[in-house]
Amino acid sequence: MTVVRTPLVVGNWKMNGAFEANRALIEALLALLAQKPLPALGVCPPFPYVPQIGALLAGSPIGWGGQTVSEHRGGAYTGQVSAPMLRDLGCTYVIVGHSERRQYCGETDEQVSLQAVAALDSGLIPIICVGESADEEAAGQTLAVIDRQLAPVLTTLAGVADEGASVVIAYDPVWAIGTGKTPTPEGVQKVHAHIRQRLMDAGLVQSRILYGGSVKGSNAATLFALPDVDGGLIGGAALDAQDFSTICTAAANRAV
Ligand code: PGA
Repeated sequence: MTVVRTPLVVGNWKMNGAFEANRALIEALLALLAQKPLPALGVCPPFPYVPQIGALLAGSPIGWGGQTVSEHRGGAYTGQVSAPMLRDLGCTYVIVGHSERRQYCGETDEQVSLQAVAALDSGLIPIICVGESADEEAAGQTLAVIDRQLAPVLTTLAGVADEGASVVIAYDPVWAIGTGKTPTPEGVQKVHAHIRQRLMDAGLVQSRILYGGSVKGSNAATLFALPDVDGGLIGGAALDAQDFSTICTAAANRAV
């Protein structure tokens, strides 16, 4: 099987947005990206705005998705949103296990792995986030933390996903999120190569690995040039059409 890892850029709007601001952002983005080479591309607004964003992006090359998903298919789970619901809304992607979900909502490694399976079962592409905290990084525990977070995901997926499954891992060092700090390019490549090996060992040869954490228009090309970086998960810069479009172009120009 030929391995093709099309570059992917996903914008995570987090808990930001409002009808008018969303419309302005999407219209500006579509104008900036018209006629440009594009990577695979998605934006993940807060749940209430998914239908609006879906309507604005319908027929465009940009997909959309959710920022988390329940591991359950349906039932008495107040406040949760299921993978079949996201499919009903035309979603392509869903982020799972973002560090803000782990930190503020107590999501565990096991739960994240079940969310990823629920997403795949409904035909969504899960973007599974992993990454160490500042303290873990300082203690030299980065790879051990990532192995711990990945273990249930890889075990669970090994049973359900074929080698071509559309599984995406995002390496988001917690200390780099929203801080303007990023690891060195060597540091990013080292972690991505480690994740790549784990994915290969699990037979997930087609999986893409995104880098997330203070990606901007100014550093995207350097990060995306690294051999095991297949694109980015973008927070703050996804709310700025100009910056996000620069990041998209950097990913599109990456040699595959
Ligand atoms: P940031 O967020 O781009 O604002 O640092 C990245 C993330 O949360 O994945």
